[in-house]
Amino acid sequence: MSKLSVLVTKEEINAKIKELAERISRDYADKDLLLVGVLKGGFMFLADLVRELTIDVSIDFISCSSYGNSTVSSGIVRILKDIDYDITGKHVLLVEDLIDTGLTLTYLKDLFRAKHCASVKVCTILDKPSRRKVDFEVDYQGIIIPDKFVVGYGLDYAEKYRNLPEVYVLEEM
Ligand code: IMP
Ligand code: MG
Repeated sequence: MSKLSVLVTKEEINAKIKELAERISRDYADKDLLLVGVLKGGFMFLADLVRELTIDVSIDFISCSSYGNSTVSSGIVRILKDIDYDITGKHVLLVEDLIDTGLTLTYLKDLFRAKHCASVKVCTILDKPSRRKVDFEVDYQGIIIPDKFVVGYGLDYAEKYRNLPEVYVLEEM
């Protein structure tokens, strides 16, 4: 049996998204920006974020696996779906649900740098900095959360709970 308790409310998420969207809109005002959602978890945040932006952007998705059905990072990143178009010269912003060990985004940033885009930056709605296994700089940092396994707002446990509108701590009972 498992129990869900709210950790981050919809109001807190919305307020943080407004703040991040203002910064991004300002920073990329005169640039060609491509937002790349990291599937699957990043889909909900990306959908909410783009509606708060005041600039024109392109949108693409990349899908990678790192967790399988376990709650512990394997450290192995596998690309399941790459982006669709050539991104040479584009400014890329990777849009993530949560940064934990930092392994996934370290890998993805290197991958995008190798594709010769103009810049690669990272935006995440949730961050667990206490769990880092690698030094990783977050350009647009969302809400800092403690070292607890969370679900909802795109995040899953064994593909469940992604649809929940708030972020919950998943506790075994
Ligand atoms: P990282 O590579 O350890 O930074 O984390 C990679 C991905 O694992 C995150 O973007 C999430 O999609 C997923 N993840 C990390 N922590 C959690 C969690 O507490 N709940 C659900 N998914 C998580
Ligand atoms: Mg993710």
